[in-house]
Amino acid sequence: MLGPVVYQPGSQRFVNDPYPAFDALRAGPPTLYDEATGQWVVSRYALVDRLLRDRRLGRTYLHVADNAEFGRPPEPAYLRPFWSTIRNGMLDREPPDHTRLRRLVSAAFTARRVQQLAPRITALAGELIDELLDAGSDGSPVDLVAVLAEPLPVTVIAELLGVPESDRSLLRPWSAVICRMFELGADRAAGEAASAACAEFGDYLRRLASARRAAPADDLLTALTQVADADGGRLSEDELVGTCVLLLNAGHEATVNATGNGVWALLRHPDQHARLRSDPAALLSTAVEEMLRYDCATPMFERWVLTDITIGGHTGGDTGGAEAVDAVEVRRGAELALLLGSANRDPAVFAEPDRFDVSRSPNPHLTFGAGIHFCLGAPLARLELAASTGALLRRVPKLAAAAEPAYKSGFVVRGLRSLSVTVR
Ligand code: HEM
Repeated sequence: MLGPVVYQPGSQRFVNDPYPAFDALRAGPPTLYDEATGQWVVSRYALVDRLLRDRRLGRTYLHVADNAEFGRPPEPAYLRPFWSTIRNGMLDREPPDHTRLRRLVSAAFTARRVQQLAPRITALAGELIDELLDAGSDGSPVDLVAVLAEPLPVTVIAELLGVPESDRSLLRPWSAVICRMFELGADRAAGEAASAACAEFGDYLRRLASARRAAPADDLLTALTQVADADGGRLSEDELVGTCVLLLNAGHEATVNATGNGVWALLRHPDQHARLRSDPAALLSTAVEEMLRYDCATPMFERWVLTDITIGGHTGGDTGGAEAVDAVEVRRGAELALLLGSANRDPAVFAEPDRFDVSRSPNPHLTFGAGIHFCLGAPLARLELAASTGALLRRVPKLAAAAEPAYKSGFVVRGLRSLSVTVR
C-alpha cells in the first residue's frame, strides 16, 4: 500500500514537486499498488526502462481481450467519438497494427522533412524573441510560456501538417480538451468535451485531407494521404484523421511544457545558466537533454499487463535484474504507472541526479519513452528546444525569472501555468 503522503498524483502539492516522493518510492519495493488510482507504480530507472520495452505489456489490451475480460466497465457511448479517434493513432495501438501505422507515418514524417524545417524553426524563434523583447522593453514582466514556449511548437506542427494560418487558433483549444482525458481521474464532463472536440477536429481534418487529395501541396498532410507500404497498404481515412490528431496534440502539448520547465530549470540555476551562456556552441545540445531530464514534462505513462509478470526478482520472465530481490507478481489485467520522471532522477544511473548540469553526458533520460512507442517526434522536439533556448541565449542576455512560477494541475503532462520573466 502507498502511504497517503508519498504518491498523490491528484494533489497540487505533489505535482508542484514530486521529487521527494519519487526518492521515497525508489527506496521501496520494485512496485507498489496505489489504491487511489488502481495502478501499480514503478519508479526505478532499470524497471521503467525494461517495462517500456516489455512486449507482455501494452498501451491497450483491446487487441487481445475485451473490457469484461480485463474487469473494466463497458465503454460509455459518450466516449465513442473520443476513443475511436485516439485508437486510430499509433500510440494507442499494438503490433501488428502499430508496426504498420508507424511504418506508414514514418515514410511521410521523415528525418529529412524535419531537418528541412530547421531554418524555419530558427526564424520563427527569432520572431517570437522580438515579441518577447518588445513586450518587456519597459522592464515589465512577460510570460515566456505565452510568448515563446506555446506559439513555437503550435506553429511548427501546424505548418508542417499544412493547417492554414487562419484555422490555427482552433487547434490549441481542441487539443487541450482532448489531452485532459489522459490525466488521472478524468470525469464525464471531460469525456463529453473531449468527444465533441474529436468530432469537430475529425470533421475539420477530413475536409482538409480531401482538399489536399484534390490539390496536393508540399506538406505532411498531403504526404500522409499518399503514403503506401510495399504491399500497397495505405492509411485508412480514420487512421489518417487519428494520426493527424495525434501529431497535432503530441506535437505540441509536451513541447510547450518541456520548454517552460526547461527554461525555468535554467533560470533557477544561475551558475549553470551563466556556464551555458559562456559557451553555447559547446553546451547547447547537452543543456537541452538536461532540460528534458531534470524536470520531466511527461513524468508518467501507463501500460496494461497482458500476461502475468514478475516485477523485480530473478525468476522466469524477470523484469528486475540483479538489483532486485523482492519480486512482486502482477496479474494480467492490472495497470502500471511507469514513472519516467522518477527514473530520470535515479542515482543508480545519474550521478547526483538532483543536480542540474548543462554538460551532463551521457544522459540516457527516459523523457521520450523507450521501446516501440519511443517518441516519433523526438528529433523535432529537440530541434525546437535548441532553437528557442539558443535564441534566448543569443538575444536576451539579461533574461531572469520575475517570480516563482506555478505548475498546472496535470501530472501526465506536467508543466507551468506561466513563466514570468524580465528581459532587460
Ligand atoms: C519535448 C517534447 C516531447 C516529449 C517529452 C514527448 C514524449 C513522448 C513520450 C514519452 C512518448 C511515448 C509514450 C508511451 O510510451 O506511452 C511519445 C510518443 C509519441 N510522440 Fe512525443 N514527445 C514530445 C514531442 C513530440 C513531437 C514534437 C511529436 C510530433 C510532431 C511527437 C509525436 C509522438 C508520437 C506520434 C508518439 C507515438 C509513437 C508510437 O506510439 O509509436 N512527440 N512522446
